[in-house]
Amino acid sequence: MRYYDFLNPSVNFMGPGCVKELGHRCRLLNMKKPLIVTDDFLAKVENGPVAQCLEVLKEAGIDSVIFTGVEPNPKIENCYDGLKIYKDNGCDSIITVGGGSSHDCGKGIGIAATHEKPLGEYAGIETLDNPLPPVIAVDTTAGTASEVTRHCVLTDRATKLKFVIVSWRNVPLVSFNDPLMMLTVPRGLTAATGMDALTHAIESYVSVDANPVTDALKDGNAFSNPRKGTKQDIIDLFRKAM
Ligand SMILES: NC(=O)c1ccc[n+]([C@@H]2O[C@H](COP(=O)([O-])OP(=O)(O)OC[C@H]3O[C@@H](n4cnc5c(N)ncnc54)[C@H](O)[C@@H]3O)[C@@H](O)[C@H]2O)c1
Repeated sequence: MRYYDFLNPSVNFMGPGCVKELGHRCRLLNMKKPLIVTDDFLAKVENGPVAQCLEVLKEAGIDSVIFTGVEPNPKIENCYDGLKIYKDNGCDSIITVGGGSSHDCGKGIGIAATHEKPLGEYAGIETLDNPLPPVIAVDTTAGTASEVTRHCVLTDRATKLKFVIVSWRNVPLVSFNDPLMMLTVPRGLTAATGMDALTHAIESYVSVDANPVTDALKDGNAFSNPRKGTKQDIIDLFRKAM
């Protein structure tokens, strides 16, 4: 028998309308002035995810500042641009609103706010020394799972490479997966993020590092039901398809 670890945010909200809990969760985390990290497009969608989050925060009496400089496949520079807004406005916490790009950029801002070396030097596993500011992730694409992972994927323009900062400190404290935030997702993005989610699902069958918790998640309610499929089933399926 071997040991394993399993990481995810301590609180995860799922289901239509759950984003209404955002303000309450901010108060519980004592967030006084969160930086909302998102992209320019989402910030402009009428009654879209950002507008809805701002409304909930307003109702809860929470002041916030918005940073809309997240690019797809976020660049190191996006994190430092966000950090400037964070510091200039005396922010104390981060709310990421968007897909994997917004979440990873928000994590990168949190790392840059609490670590001295350039972000690229933290590439690798468990490289972070200090706690990040509180991070809440409001997901709008449902594919990457960055809202529940310890990964921060950034792009270095100089090397034209992506790198990953993997740390338990990157896991958001609260995640929101509210399908009402996803109604505006265009078909192409739904397909692309669907493939991302499918890949994660297949990974749980073929990974040599699976454990009882990931197996349970893979099988839906495997704690009470017999397994619905085995790793070999999936491998056979792929062999047939090739
Ligand atoms: N950290 C992790 O664990 C992890 C895992 C996999 C991928 N990633 C990273 O995630 C990034 C990709 O994230 P993604 O696929 O979620 O896309 P994204 O965050 O890059 O967003 C893609 C586009 O979709 C738009 N969009 C997002 N939500 C929308 C909505 N509700 N309605 C309309 N438009 C919307 C955005 O404005 C953006 O233009 C990559 O940088 C990848 O490296 C991270």
